[in-house]
Amino acid sequence: MKNAIEIKGLTKIFGELKAVDNVTLSIKEGELFGFLGPNGSGKTTTVKMLTGQIKPTKGNATILGKDILRSPIEIREIVGIMPEQENPPSFLTAEEYLHFVAKIRKLDNIKEKSDYWFEFLDFENQKNVLCKDLSRGTRQKLMFAQTFLHNPKLVFIDEPLINLDPIIQKKVKDYLQNFVKSGRTIFFCTHVLEIAEEICTNIGIIYNGKLIFKGPMKDLKRRGQHLEDFFLKLVKEA
Ligand SMILES: Nc1ncnc2c1ncn2[C@@H]1O[C@H](COP(=O)(O)OP(=O)(O)O)[C@@H](O)[C@H]1O
Ligand SMILES: [Mg+2]
Repeated sequence: MKNAIEIKGLTKIFGELKAVDNVTLSIKEGELFGFLGPNGSGKTTTVKMLTGQIKPTKGNATILGKDILRSPIEIREIVGIMPEQENPPSFLTAEEYLHFVAKIRKLDNIKEKSDYWFEFLDFENQKNVLCKDLSRGTRQKLMFAQTFLHNPKLVFIDEPLINLDPIIQKKVKDYLQNFVKSGRTIFFCTHVLEIAEEICTNIGIIYNGKLIFKGPMKDLKRRGQHLEDFFLKLVKEA
C-alpha cells in the first residue's frame, strides 16, 4: 500500500508554545489511524496544518501525494474534513446546507446523495430545520454527512462521535471500518480511547506536541495490553 499521508518534521509554534513539535509520521492507504492525546496535545493543530487551514512554522507533509504548502486548495477538494467545532451556518436548513456543500464539491445527483445521509443517520425529520435550531448531536450528524458526501479517498475527523447516541455511534463506527476496507484512509483524532481501541488499525500518540508512540493496534492487542494502560504509562513517562 502507498502512503496516504507523509509528515516530515511538522512543527507549529504559537508565541512561546510548541503546539506541534517536529512530528514525523507516515500513514498508509487503508489505515484507520487514531491520533490520540489528551486535550491540548496538538491534534487539532496538526489536522489544521494537514488540511491547509494554518501554515506550519516548520516541516512539511504530503496528502495523497500533494504538498500541503503548495497545494492546500487541491487537498481540500479531494479530502473530507470533519472539524472539531461542528457548526454549520445558522441561516440554512440542514438540507440546504448539504446541497450547498454538494454544489461547492461540484457533485451530481445532489438530492439523492444528501437523502442517503439523512436516512442513514436517521434525521430525515430534521431536513427542513434551520441549523441554528438543531441539537448538537444532529449538527454533528450533518457535519459527518458533509465530510463523506463526495466520497473522498481520505478523511480527517476530529472528535466526531462525542454527541451521538449509542445506536448512531455504532452505525458510524461500522461505516468508518468499512470505509477503510476499500483502501481509503481515515485520520481520526480523539481522546476517547475506548472508541479508538475498538476501531483503529493503527495509532499515534501525541503529548505536549510530541509524537511519543506510533504503531499498529494489533501489536498492542497481541501483547495483551489495553490501550488505556499503555496510554497512561506513556504519558506518565513523557
Ligand atoms: N491559534 C492558536 N493560538 C495560540 N495557541 C493555540 C492556538 N491553537 C491552539 N493553541 C494551543 O495549542 C495547543 C494544542 O491545541 P490543539 O491542537 O487544539 O490540541 P488538541 O486538539 O489535542 O486538544 C494548546 O495548548 C492550545 O491552547
Ligand atoms: Mg482538538
